[in-house]
Amino acid sequence: MATPLPHTVTQSGQWWRDAVIYQVYVRSFADANGDGVGDLAGVRERLPYLAGLGVDALWFTPWYASPQADAGYDVADYRAIDPLFGDLAEAEAFIAEAHQRGLKVIIDVVPNHVSDQHAWFREAVAAGPGSPQRERFWFRPGRGDLPPNDWQSVFGGPAWTRLADGEWYLHLFAPEQPDLNWNSPDVAAEHQDVLRFWFDRGADGVRIDSATMPAKDPELADFDPANPPLPHPYIDRDAVHDIYRAWRAVANAYDPPRALIGEVWLDKPDRLAMYLRPDEMHTAFNFDYLNCTWDPKALRHVIDATLEAHAPVDAPATWVLSNHDVTRHVTRYGRADSSYGHALRQHKTPVNLALGTRRARAALLLNLALPGSVYLYQGEELGLEEVEDIPGTHRQDPIFHRTRGLDIGRDGCRVPLPWSGTTAPYGFSPPDATAEPWLPQPADWATRTAEAQTDDPDSMLTLYRTAIRLRREHLSSIAATLEWLPTDPALLAFTRPGGFAFLANLSDQPVALPGPGEILLASGALPDGLVPPDTAVWLHTIRSN
Ligand code: NOJ
Repeated sequence: MATPLPHTVTQSGQWWRDAVIYQVYVRSFADANGDGVGDLAGVRERLPYLAGLGVDALWFTPWYASPQADAGYDVADYRAIDPLFGDLAEAEAFIAEAHQRGLKVIIDVVPNHVSDQHAWFREAVAAGPGSPQRERFWFRPGRGDLPPNDWQSVFGGPAWTRLADGEWYLHLFAPEQPDLNWNSPDVAAEHQDVLRFWFDRGADGVRIDSATMPAKDPELADFDPANPPLPHPYIDRDAVHDIYRAWRAVANAYDPPRALIGEVWLDKPDRLAMYLRPDEMHTAFNFDYLNCTWDPKALRHVIDATLEAHAPVDAPATWVLSNHDVTRHVTRYGRADSSYGHALRQHKTPVNLALGTRRARAALLLNLALPGSVYLYQGEELGLEEVEDIPGTHRQDPIFHRTRGLDIGRDGCRVPLPWSGTTAPYGFSPPDATAEPWLPQPADWATRTAEAQTDDPDSMLTLYRTAIRLRREHLSSIAATLEWLPTDPALLAFTRPGGFAFLANLSDQPVALPGPGEILLASGALPDGLVPPDTAVWLHTIRSN
Protein backbone atom coordinates (compact mmCIF):
# COMPACT_ATOMS: atom_id res chain seq x y z
CA MET A 1 0.00 0.00 0.00
CA ALA A 2 1.46 3.34 -1.03
CA THR A 3 2.06 6.15 1.42
CA PRO A 4 -1.00 8.41 1.31
CA LEU A 5 -0.66 11.92 -0.03
CA PRO A 6 -1.74 14.23 2.76
CA HIS A 7 -4.31 16.52 1.18
CA THR A 8 -7.24 16.52 -1.16
CA VAL A 9 -7.26 18.61 -4.30
CA THR A 10 -10.20 20.64 -3.14
CA GLN A 11 -8.34 21.66 -0.01
CA SER A 12 -5.19 22.61 -1.86
CA GLY A 13 -6.78 24.32 -4.89
CA GLN A 14 -4.06 22.80 -7.09
CA TRP A 15 -6.12 21.89 -10.15
CA TRP A 16 -3.35 19.91 -11.85
CA ARG A 17 -3.34 17.36 -9.01
CA ASP A 18 -6.43 15.57 -10.27
CA ALA A 19 -7.35 17.25 -13.56
CA VAL A 20 -8.50 15.38 -16.66
CA ILE A 21 -6.38 16.91 -19.41
CA TYR A 22 -7.24 16.51 -23.09
CA GLN A 23 -4.40 16.67 -25.61
CA VAL A 24 -5.29 18.70 -28.70
CA TYR A 25 -3.08 17.76 -31.63
CA VAL A 26 -4.07 20.89 -33.51
CA ARG A 27 -3.30 19.81 -37.07
CA SER A 28 -5.62 16.81 -36.76
CA PHE A 29 -8.41 18.17 -34.58
CA ALA A 30 -10.69 20.25 -36.85
CA ASP A 31 -10.01 22.24 -40.02
CA ALA A 32 -12.11 25.42 -40.22
CA ASN A 33 -10.50 27.04 -43.28
CA GLY A 34 -10.60 24.01 -45.56
CA ASP A 35 -6.89 23.62 -46.25
CA GLY A 36 -6.84 20.06 -44.94
CA VAL A 37 -4.97 20.95 -41.73
CA GLY A 38 -6.61 21.53 -38.37
CA ASP A 39 -6.48 25.06 -36.98
CA LEU A 40 -7.34 27.20 -33.98
CA ALA A 41 -10.65 28.32 -35.49
CA GLY A 42 -11.55 24.63 -35.77
CA VAL A 43 -10.77 24.00 -32.11
CA ARG A 44 -12.72 27.10 -31.14
CA GLU A 45 -15.79 25.86 -33.02
CA ARG A 46 -15.53 22.60 -31.10
CA LEU A 47 -15.09 24.13 -27.67
CA PRO A 48 -18.67 23.13 -26.72
CA TYR A 49 -17.73 19.51 -27.55
CA LEU A 50 -14.66 19.70 -25.32
CA ALA A 51 -16.53 21.38 -22.49
CA GLY A 52 -19.30 18.77 -22.88
CA LEU A 53 -16.77 15.98 -22.56
CA GLY A 54 -16.17 17.32 -19.06
CA VAL A 55 -12.39 17.67 -19.17
CA ASP A 56 -10.65 20.28 -17.01
CA ALA A 57 -7.81 21.38 -19.28
CA LEU A 58 -6.55 21.30 -22.86
CA TRP A 59 -2.92 20.69 -23.78
CA PHE A 60 -1.97 22.04 -27.20
CA THR A 61 0.94 20.52 -29.08
CA PRO A 62 3.13 23.32 -30.54
CA TRP A 63 1.15 25.97 -32.36
CA TYR A 64 4.06 28.37 -32.96
CA ALA A 65 5.53 29.54 -36.26
CA SER A 66 7.41 26.56 -37.64
CA PRO A 67 8.51 25.03 -40.93
CA GLN A 68 6.75 21.87 -39.61
CA ALA A 69 9.71 19.57 -40.19
CA ASP A 70 8.59 17.72 -37.05
CA ALA A 71 4.94 18.80 -36.88
CA GLY A 72 5.75 21.99 -34.98
CA TYR A 73 8.39 20.59 -32.60
CA ASP A 74 10.79 22.66 -34.69
CA VAL A 75 9.91 26.13 -33.40
CA ALA A 76 11.01 29.12 -35.49
CA ASP A 77 9.33 31.80 -33.37
CA TYR A 78 7.71 31.23 -29.99
CA ARG A 79 5.95 34.57 -30.04
CA ALA A 80 4.00 33.92 -33.24
CA ILE A 81 1.36 31.35 -34.18
CA ASP A 82 1.98 29.36 -37.34
CA PRO A 83 -0.25 30.75 -40.14
CA LEU A 84 -1.38 27.16 -40.74
CA PHE A 85 -3.16 27.34 -37.40
CA GLY A 86 -4.12 31.03 -37.07
CA ASP A 87 -2.53 34.08 -35.48
CA LEU A 88 -1.62 35.44 -32.08
CA ALA A 89 -4.90 37.33 -31.65
CA GLU A 90 -6.78 34.07 -32.22
CA ALA A 91 -4.65 32.25 -29.67
CA GLU A 92 -5.31 34.98 -27.11
CA ALA A 93 -9.04 34.94 -27.85
CA PHE A 94 -9.02 31.15 -27.62
CA ILE A 95 -7.41 31.15 -24.18
CA ALA A 96 -9.94 33.73 -22.95
CA GLU A 97 -12.89 31.76 -24.31
CA ALA A 98 -11.60 28.48 -22.89
CA HIS A 99 -11.30 30.17 -19.50
CA GLN A 100 -14.89 31.40 -19.75
CA ARG A 101 -15.92 27.77 -20.21
CA GLY A 102 -13.90 26.72 -17.19
CA LEU A 103 -11.14 25.04 -19.22
CA LYS A 104 -7.44 25.60 -18.50
CA VAL A 105 -4.98 25.86 -21.38
CA ILE A 106 -1.55 24.24 -21.38
CA ILE A 107 0.93 24.95 -24.15
CA ASP A 108 4.00 23.02 -25.28
CA VAL A 109 7.55 24.33 -24.90
CA VAL A 110 10.59 22.69 -26.43
CA PRO A 111 13.79 23.51 -24.53
CA ASN A 112 16.07 20.99 -26.21
CA HIS A 113 16.07 22.45 -29.71
CA VAL A 114 14.66 25.05 -32.09
CA SER A 115 14.05 25.08 -35.82
CA ASP A 116 16.94 25.62 -38.20
CA GLN A 117 14.82 28.59 -39.36
CA HIS A 118 14.84 30.18 -35.88
CA ALA A 119 16.52 33.62 -36.00
CA TRP A 120 19.27 32.44 -33.66
CA PHE A 121 20.27 29.52 -35.84
CA ARG A 122 20.21 31.58 -39.01
CA GLU A 123 22.41 34.17 -37.31
CA ALA A 124 24.77 31.44 -36.10
CA VAL A 125 25.09 29.96 -39.59
CA ALA A 126 25.74 33.41 -41.06
CA ALA A 127 28.22 34.46 -38.36
CA GLY A 128 30.55 31.52 -39.00
CA PRO A 129 32.94 29.38 -36.92
CA GLY A 130 34.13 30.80 -33.62
CA SER A 131 31.37 33.44 -33.43
CA PRO A 132 29.45 34.08 -30.19
CA GLN A 133 26.22 33.34 -32.10
CA ARG A 134 27.39 29.71 -32.44
CA GLU A 135 27.76 29.42 -28.66
CA ARG A 136 23.98 29.10 -28.38
CA PHE A 137 24.18 25.73 -30.19
CA TRP A 138 26.63 22.83 -30.35
CA PHE A 139 28.94 23.61 -33.27
CA ARG A 140 32.15 21.61 -33.57
CA PRO A 141 34.79 20.79 -36.19
CA GLY A 142 34.56 17.23 -37.47
CA ARG A 143 37.10 14.42 -37.26
CA GLY A 144 38.36 14.63 -40.80
CA ASP A 145 35.28 13.91 -42.87
CA LEU A 146 33.55 12.29 -39.91
CA PRO A 147 31.20 13.98 -37.44
CA PRO A 148 32.60 15.18 -34.07
CA ASN A 149 31.33 12.03 -32.33
CA ASP A 150 29.29 8.88 -32.94
CA TRP A 151 25.98 10.04 -31.44
CA GLN A 152 22.89 8.94 -33.33
CA SER A 153 19.72 10.97 -33.82
CA VAL A 154 16.57 9.71 -32.06
CA PHE A 155 14.95 9.88 -35.50
CA GLY A 156 17.65 7.78 -37.18
CA GLY A 157 21.01 8.62 -38.77
CA PRO A 158 23.85 10.63 -37.29
CA ALA A 159 23.08 13.38 -34.76
CA TRP A 160 25.36 15.83 -36.64
CA THR A 161 25.00 17.77 -39.87
CA ARG A 162 27.84 19.57 -41.63
CA LEU A 163 27.58 23.12 -42.92
CA ALA A 164 29.27 24.44 -46.06
CA ASP A 165 31.92 26.14 -43.88
CA GLY A 166 33.00 22.71 -42.58
CA GLU A 167 31.60 22.91 -39.02
CA TRP A 168 29.06 20.39 -37.76
CA TYR A 169 26.07 21.06 -35.50
CA LEU A 170 24.35 18.70 -33.10
CA HIS A 171 20.70 17.67 -33.51
CA LEU A 172 19.44 14.83 -31.35
CA PHE A 173 16.28 14.82 -33.49
CA ALA A 174 16.01 15.90 -37.17
CA PRO A 175 18.67 18.07 -38.86
CA GLU A 176 16.02 20.82 -38.93
CA GLN A 177 16.05 20.78 -35.08
CA PRO A 178 19.47 22.04 -33.89
CA ASP A 179 20.10 21.43 -30.18
CA LEU A 180 20.45 24.45 -27.94
CA ASN A 181 23.44 24.85 -25.66
CA TRP A 182 22.02 25.46 -22.20
CA ASN A 183 25.45 26.54 -20.96
CA SER A 184 24.82 29.77 -22.86
CA PRO A 185 23.12 32.31 -20.57
CA ASP A 186 21.15 33.62 -23.57
CA VAL A 187 19.33 30.30 -23.86
CA ALA A 188 18.09 30.28 -20.27
CA ALA A 189 17.07 33.94 -20.37
CA GLU A 190 15.19 33.57 -23.67
CA HIS A 191 13.18 30.56 -22.50
CA GLN A 192 12.19 32.26 -19.27
CA ASP A 193 11.02 35.19 -21.32
CA VAL A 194 9.00 32.91 -23.59
CA LEU A 195 7.31 31.42 -20.51
CA ARG A 196 6.39 34.91 -19.30
CA PHE A 197 5.12 35.83 -22.77
CA TRP A 198 2.55 33.02 -22.63
CA PHE A 199 1.80 33.17 -18.92
CA ASP A 200 1.01 36.87 -19.41
CA ARG A 201 -1.48 35.79 -22.08
CA GLY A 202 -3.23 33.47 -19.68
CA ALA A 203 -1.61 30.08 -20.35
CA ASP A 204 -2.20 27.99 -17.22
CA GLY A 205 0.81 25.78 -17.64
CA VAL A 206 3.39 24.30 -19.97
CA ARG A 207 4.12 20.79 -21.14
CA ILE A 208 7.90 20.50 -21.38
CA ASP A 209 9.11 18.57 -24.43
CA SER A 210 11.99 16.05 -24.22
CA ALA A 211 12.57 17.35 -20.72
CA THR A 212 15.46 15.02 -19.83
CA MET A 213 17.65 16.02 -22.77
CA PRO A 214 18.74 19.69 -22.75
CA ALA A 215 21.85 19.23 -20.55
CA LYS A 216 24.80 17.69 -22.41
CA ASP A 217 28.21 16.44 -21.41
CA PRO A 218 30.43 19.20 -22.86
CA GLU A 219 33.08 16.56 -23.62
CA LEU A 220 30.74 15.20 -26.32
CA ALA A 221 32.53 11.85 -26.07
CA ASP A 222 31.66 8.74 -28.09
CA PHE A 223 29.66 6.10 -26.23
CA ASP A 224 28.03 2.73 -26.75
CA PRO A 225 24.23 3.31 -26.74
CA ALA A 226 23.68 -0.31 -25.67
CA ASN A 227 25.82 0.31 -22.61
CA PRO A 228 25.84 4.06 -21.95
CA PRO A 229 28.01 5.57 -19.23
CA LEU A 230 26.43 7.08 -16.12
CA PRO A 231 25.74 9.91 -16.13
CA HIS A 232 24.49 9.56 -19.68
CA PRO A 233 26.03 12.11 -22.09
CA TYR A 234 22.65 13.77 -22.69
CA ILE A 235 19.81 12.03 -20.86
CA ASP A 236 18.85 12.93 -17.30
CA ARG A 237 22.04 14.73 -16.35
CA ASP A 238 21.89 16.50 -13.00
CA ALA A 239 22.43 19.91 -14.58
CA VAL A 240 19.02 19.69 -16.26
CA HIS A 241 17.32 20.32 -12.92
CA ASP A 242 18.71 23.87 -12.77
CA ILE A 243 16.58 24.71 -15.81
CA TYR A 244 13.34 23.62 -14.16
CA ARG A 245 14.16 25.26 -10.81
CA ALA A 246 14.45 28.56 -12.65
CA TRP A 247 11.22 27.86 -14.54
CA ARG A 248 9.40 27.04 -11.31
CA ALA A 249 10.39 30.44 -9.96
CA VAL A 250 8.90 32.04 -13.10
CA ALA A 251 5.70 29.98 -12.73
CA ASN A 252 5.41 30.76 -9.02
CA ALA A 253 5.57 34.51 -9.67
CA TYR A 254 2.05 34.29 -11.17
CA ASP A 255 -1.24 34.21 -9.32
CA PRO A 256 -2.42 31.53 -9.56
CA PRO A 257 0.95 29.84 -10.10
CA ARG A 258 1.33 28.26 -13.51
CA ALA A 259 1.88 24.49 -13.81
CA LEU A 260 4.96 22.73 -15.22
CA ILE A 261 4.32 19.30 -16.74
CA GLY A 262 7.28 17.24 -17.91
CA GLU A 263 7.71 14.84 -20.75
CA VAL A 264 10.12 12.74 -18.73
CA TRP A 265 10.70 9.37 -20.43
CA LEU A 266 12.70 7.53 -17.76
CA ASP A 267 12.28 3.95 -16.66
CA LYS A 268 13.49 4.65 -13.12
CA PRO A 269 10.64 6.05 -10.97
CA ASP A 270 13.10 7.47 -8.43
CA ARG A 271 14.92 9.47 -11.14
CA LEU A 272 11.57 10.69 -12.50
CA ALA A 273 10.55 11.82 -9.01
CA MET A 274 13.60 14.09 -8.90
CA TYR A 275 11.95 16.26 -11.56
CA LEU A 276 8.95 16.58 -9.25
CA ARG A 277 10.72 17.96 -6.21
CA PRO A 278 8.82 20.91 -4.72
CA ASP A 279 10.97 23.50 -6.48
CA GLU A 280 10.84 21.86 -9.95
CA MET A 281 7.93 20.55 -12.05
CA HIS A 282 4.46 19.96 -10.69
CA THR A 283 3.80 16.74 -12.52
CA ALA A 284 5.14 14.47 -15.31
CA PHE A 285 3.73 11.92 -17.71
CA ASN A 286 3.76 8.33 -16.49
CA PHE A 287 5.29 6.46 -19.40
CA ASP A 288 5.88 3.27 -17.38
CA TYR A 289 2.11 3.03 -17.17
CA LEU A 290 1.71 3.75 -20.89
CA ASN A 291 4.28 1.07 -21.73
CA CYS A 292 2.74 -1.53 -19.44
CA THR A 293 1.07 -4.65 -20.80
CA TRP A 294 -2.60 -5.42 -20.15
CA ASP A 295 -1.61 -7.74 -17.36
CA PRO A 296 -2.89 -7.52 -13.76
CA LYS A 297 0.45 -8.21 -12.07
CA ALA A 298 2.35 -5.75 -14.26
CA LEU A 299 -0.32 -3.07 -13.89
CA ARG A 300 -0.52 -3.44 -10.15
CA HIS A 301 3.25 -3.26 -9.94
CA VAL A 302 3.46 -0.09 -12.03
CA ILE A 303 0.62 1.56 -10.09
CA ASP A 304 2.30 0.82 -6.75
CA ALA A 305 5.75 1.86 -7.99
CA THR A 306 4.29 5.12 -9.31
CA LEU A 307 2.50 6.00 -6.08
CA GLU A 308 5.52 5.06 -3.98
CA ALA A 309 7.90 7.18 -6.07
CA HIS A 310 5.63 10.22 -6.08
CA ALA A 311 4.72 10.24 -2.39
CA PRO A 312 8.07 11.43 -0.96
CA VAL A 313 8.06 14.49 -3.23
CA ASP A 314 4.32 15.08 -2.66
CA ALA A 315 3.64 15.11 -6.41
CA PRO A 316 0.47 13.72 -7.97
CA ALA A 317 0.72 10.64 -10.18
CA THR A 318 -0.45 10.85 -13.79
CA TRP A 319 -2.13 8.17 -15.89
CA VAL A 320 -1.76 8.26 -19.64
CA LEU A 321 -2.25 5.61 -22.35
CA SER A 322 -1.93 7.44 -25.65
CA ASN A 323 -0.38 10.51 -27.23
CA HIS A 324 0.81 11.72 -30.62
CA ASP A 325 4.04 9.67 -30.42
CA VAL A 326 2.75 6.18 -29.64
CA THR A 327 0.53 3.49 -31.18
CA ARG A 328 -3.08 4.09 -30.13
CA HIS A 329 -3.99 1.90 -27.17
CA VAL A 330 -7.09 0.32 -28.75
CA THR A 331 -4.62 -1.26 -31.17
CA ARG A 332 -1.95 -2.08 -28.57
CA TYR A 333 -4.46 -3.77 -26.29
CA GLY A 334 -5.75 -5.85 -29.20
CA ARG A 335 -2.37 -7.47 -29.79
CA ALA A 336 -0.98 -10.64 -28.27
CA ASP A 337 1.88 -8.52 -26.90
CA SER A 338 0.21 -5.39 -25.55
CA SER A 339 3.39 -3.66 -24.39
CA TYR A 340 4.68 -0.53 -26.08
CA GLY A 341 8.19 0.46 -27.00
CA HIS A 342 9.31 2.96 -29.62
CA ALA A 343 11.93 0.49 -30.78
CA LEU A 344 9.30 -2.14 -31.55
CA ARG A 345 6.06 -0.63 -32.79
CA GLN A 346 4.75 -4.07 -33.87
CA HIS A 347 3.40 -2.44 -37.01
CA LYS A 348 0.85 -4.69 -38.73
CA THR A 349 1.16 -7.56 -36.25
CA PRO A 350 -2.30 -9.14 -35.84
CA VAL A 351 -4.83 -7.00 -33.96
CA ASN A 352 -8.18 -7.95 -32.48
CA LEU A 353 -9.86 -4.54 -32.40
CA ALA A 354 -12.97 -5.78 -30.57
CA LEU A 355 -10.73 -7.06 -27.77
CA GLY A 356 -8.60 -3.90 -27.80
CA THR A 357 -11.72 -1.74 -27.56
CA ARG A 358 -13.15 -3.77 -24.67
CA ARG A 359 -9.87 -3.41 -22.80
CA ALA A 360 -9.59 0.29 -23.63
CA ARG A 361 -13.04 0.82 -22.10
CA ALA A 362 -11.97 -0.98 -18.94
CA ALA A 363 -8.66 0.92 -18.92
CA LEU A 364 -10.50 4.24 -19.02
CA LEU A 365 -12.35 3.32 -15.85
CA LEU A 366 -9.05 2.29 -14.26
CA ASN A 367 -7.26 5.54 -15.23
CA LEU A 368 -10.09 7.70 -13.96
CA ALA A 369 -10.37 5.76 -10.69
CA LEU A 370 -6.69 6.09 -9.76
CA PRO A 371 -5.46 8.97 -7.58
CA GLY A 372 -3.84 11.70 -9.66
CA SER A 373 -4.44 13.39 -13.00
CA VAL A 374 -5.37 11.75 -16.29
CA TYR A 375 -4.23 12.64 -19.81
CA LEU A 376 -6.45 11.83 -22.78
CA TYR A 377 -5.28 12.02 -26.38
CA GLN A 378 -7.78 13.38 -28.91
CA GLY A 379 -9.69 10.61 -30.63
CA GLU A 380 -9.36 8.05 -27.86
CA GLU A 381 -12.83 9.15 -26.72
CA LEU A 382 -14.04 8.00 -30.15
CA GLY A 383 -12.27 4.66 -29.77
CA LEU A 384 -9.96 5.37 -32.71
CA GLU A 385 -7.43 2.71 -33.58
CA GLU A 386 -3.97 3.16 -35.07
CA VAL A 387 -4.28 3.62 -38.85
CA GLU A 388 -1.74 1.14 -40.18
CA ASP A 389 -2.30 1.28 -43.92
CA ILE A 390 -1.26 4.88 -44.70
CA PRO A 391 0.71 4.66 -47.97
CA GLY A 392 4.38 5.61 -47.72
CA THR A 393 3.76 8.43 -50.19
CA HIS A 394 1.42 10.09 -47.66
CA ARG A 395 3.49 9.51 -44.55
CA GLN A 396 4.97 12.70 -43.13
CA ASP A 397 6.75 11.73 -39.93
CA PRO A 398 10.51 12.41 -40.19
CA ILE A 399 11.07 9.09 -38.41
CA PHE A 400 9.57 7.23 -41.39
CA HIS A 401 11.70 9.17 -43.86
CA ARG A 402 14.96 9.18 -41.91
CA THR A 403 14.79 5.41 -41.33
CA ARG A 404 13.66 4.82 -44.94
CA GLY A 405 10.48 3.22 -43.63
CA LEU A 406 12.28 0.77 -41.35
CA ASP A 407 10.46 2.49 -38.50
CA ILE A 408 6.93 3.21 -39.70
CA GLY A 409 6.74 6.28 -37.46
CA ARG A 410 3.88 8.08 -35.77
CA ASP A 411 1.48 9.12 -38.54
CA GLY A 412 -0.93 6.29 -37.70
CA CYS A 413 -2.00 7.92 -34.44
CA ARG A 414 -2.20 11.42 -35.98
CA VAL A 415 -4.96 10.88 -38.55
CA PRO A 416 -7.52 13.74 -38.61
CA LEU A 417 -10.55 13.20 -36.37
CA PRO A 418 -13.87 12.02 -37.79
CA TRP A 419 -16.67 14.34 -36.66
CA SER A 420 -19.72 13.60 -38.80
CA GLY A 421 -21.02 12.08 -42.02
CA THR A 422 -20.25 8.72 -43.57
CA THR A 423 -17.29 9.42 -45.84
CA ALA A 424 -13.96 11.24 -45.59
CA PRO A 425 -13.31 13.94 -44.49
CA TYR A 426 -16.06 13.09 -41.95
CA GLY A 427 -16.64 16.75 -41.09
CA PHE A 428 -12.96 17.33 -40.30
CA SER A 429 -12.87 19.95 -43.08
CA PRO A 430 -15.81 22.09 -44.22
CA PRO A 431 -17.86 20.95 -47.25
CA ASP A 432 -16.19 23.53 -49.51
CA ALA A 433 -12.66 22.50 -48.51
CA THR A 434 -9.98 23.05 -51.13
CA ALA A 435 -7.73 20.23 -49.90
CA GLU A 436 -7.93 16.67 -48.61
CA PRO A 437 -7.08 16.03 -44.94
CA TRP A 438 -3.28 16.08 -44.52
CA LEU A 439 -3.34 12.34 -43.77
CA PRO A 440 -5.91 10.01 -45.35
CA GLN A 441 -8.73 8.81 -43.10
CA PRO A 442 -9.94 5.19 -43.24
CA ALA A 443 -12.97 4.42 -45.39
CA ASP A 444 -14.71 2.63 -42.51
CA TRP A 445 -14.78 5.41 -39.90
CA ALA A 446 -18.50 6.26 -40.32
CA THR A 447 -19.29 4.55 -37.01
CA ARG A 448 -16.40 6.32 -35.26
CA THR A 449 -17.62 9.88 -35.77
CA ALA A 450 -18.61 12.02 -32.80
CA GLU A 451 -22.01 12.47 -34.47
CA ALA A 452 -22.63 8.73 -34.75
CA GLN A 453 -21.63 8.13 -31.13
CA THR A 454 -23.15 11.07 -29.37
CA ASP A 455 -26.61 9.62 -28.64
CA ASP A 456 -25.55 5.98 -28.51
CA PRO A 457 -25.62 4.86 -24.86
CA ASP A 458 -23.08 2.11 -25.58
CA SER A 459 -20.55 4.20 -27.50
CA MET A 460 -17.02 5.00 -26.40
CA LEU A 461 -17.89 8.69 -26.42
CA THR A 462 -20.81 8.16 -24.05
CA LEU A 463 -18.57 6.12 -21.74
CA TYR A 464 -15.99 8.94 -21.63
CA ARG A 465 -18.63 11.61 -20.95
CA THR A 466 -20.31 9.56 -18.23
CA ALA A 467 -17.10 8.42 -16.57
CA ILE A 468 -15.61 11.93 -16.44
CA ARG A 469 -18.84 13.30 -14.95
CA LEU A 470 -19.07 10.55 -12.33
CA ARG A 471 -15.40 10.95 -11.46
CA ARG A 472 -16.02 14.59 -10.71
CA GLU A 473 -18.96 13.65 -8.49
CA HIS A 474 -17.37 10.78 -6.61
CA LEU A 475 -13.60 11.09 -6.80
CA SER A 476 -12.57 14.71 -7.11
CA SER A 477 -12.49 15.85 -3.51
CA ILE A 478 -11.13 12.82 -1.73
CA ALA A 479 -7.64 12.03 -0.46
CA ALA A 480 -5.23 10.71 -3.09
CA THR A 481 -5.10 7.21 -1.61
CA LEU A 482 -6.13 3.75 -2.66
CA GLU A 483 -6.43 0.47 -0.77
CA TRP A 484 -6.01 -2.77 -2.73
CA LEU A 485 -8.61 -5.42 -1.97
CA PRO A 486 -7.43 -8.97 -1.34
CA THR A 487 -8.56 -10.74 -4.52
CA ASP A 488 -7.57 -13.26 -7.12
CA PRO A 489 -4.32 -11.91 -8.66
CA ALA A 490 -6.00 -11.81 -12.08
CA LEU A 491 -8.22 -8.97 -10.85
CA LEU A 492 -7.43 -5.36 -10.05
CA ALA A 493 -9.61 -4.27 -7.17
CA PHE A 494 -9.26 -1.37 -4.78
CA THR A 495 -11.23 1.10 -2.75
CA ARG A 496 -10.93 4.87 -2.52
CA PRO A 497 -12.12 7.02 0.39
CA GLY A 498 -15.85 7.80 0.54
CA GLY A 499 -17.20 4.36 -0.32
CA PHE A 500 -15.83 3.99 -3.85
CA ALA A 501 -14.74 0.58 -5.10
CA PHE A 502 -13.10 -0.43 -8.38
CA LEU A 503 -12.75 -3.81 -10.00
CA ALA A 504 -11.29 -4.82 -13.35
CA ASN A 505 -11.43 -8.43 -14.43
CA LEU A 506 -8.29 -9.41 -16.34
CA SER A 507 -8.95 -13.15 -15.97
CA ASP A 508 -10.66 -15.24 -18.64
CA GLN A 509 -13.75 -16.03 -16.50
CA PRO A 510 -16.64 -13.87 -15.25
CA VAL A 511 -16.25 -12.86 -11.60
CA ALA A 512 -18.50 -11.51 -8.86
CA LEU A 513 -18.64 -7.85 -7.91
CA PRO A 514 -16.22 -6.88 -5.13
CA GLY A 515 -19.05 -6.46 -2.62
CA PRO A 516 -22.50 -5.01 -2.13
CA GLY A 517 -23.16 -1.56 -3.45
CA GLU A 518 -24.64 0.58 -6.16
CA ILE A 519 -23.07 0.11 -9.59
CA LEU A 520 -22.06 3.59 -10.71
CA LEU A 521 -20.67 2.54 -14.06
CA ALA A 522 -19.45 -0.50 -15.94
CA SER A 523 -17.29 -0.58 -19.04
CA GLY A 524 -19.51 -3.29 -20.57
CA ALA A 525 -22.60 -5.37 -19.91
CA LEU A 526 -22.72 -7.41 -16.67
CA PRO A 527 -24.71 -10.56 -17.57
CA ASP A 528 -26.16 -12.29 -14.49
CA GLY A 529 -24.63 -9.56 -12.33
CA LEU A 530 -21.14 -10.92 -13.02
CA VAL A 531 -18.16 -8.95 -14.40
CA PRO A 532 -16.99 -10.54 -17.68
CA PRO A 533 -13.32 -10.69 -18.76
CA ASP A 534 -11.72 -7.36 -19.74
CA THR A 535 -14.47 -5.40 -18.05
CA ALA A 536 -14.28 -2.88 -15.19
CA VAL A 537 -16.85 -1.54 -12.74
CA TRP A 538 -17.19 1.38 -10.37
CA LEU A 539 -19.24 0.77 -7.24
CA HIS A 540 -20.51 2.99 -4.53
CA THR A 541 -20.30 0.65 -1.58
CA ILE A 542 -23.04 0.63 1.00
CA ARG A 543 -21.64 1.42 4.39
CA SER A 544 -23.16 -0.18 7.47
CA ASN A 545 -22.89 2.85 9.83
C1 NOJ B 1 8.69 14.67 -28.06
C2 NOJ B 1 7.47 15.04 -28.84
O1 NOJ B 1 6.33 14.53 -28.20
C3 NOJ B 1 7.68 14.48 -30.24
O2 NOJ B 1 6.51 14.54 -31.01
C4 NOJ B 1 8.81 15.23 -30.87
O3 NOJ B 1 9.08 14.67 -32.13
C5 NOJ B 1 10.08 15.14 -30.02
N1 NOJ B 1 9.83 15.34 -28.62
C6 NOJ B 1 11.09 16.17 -30.46
O4 NOJ B 1 10.65 17.46 -30.14
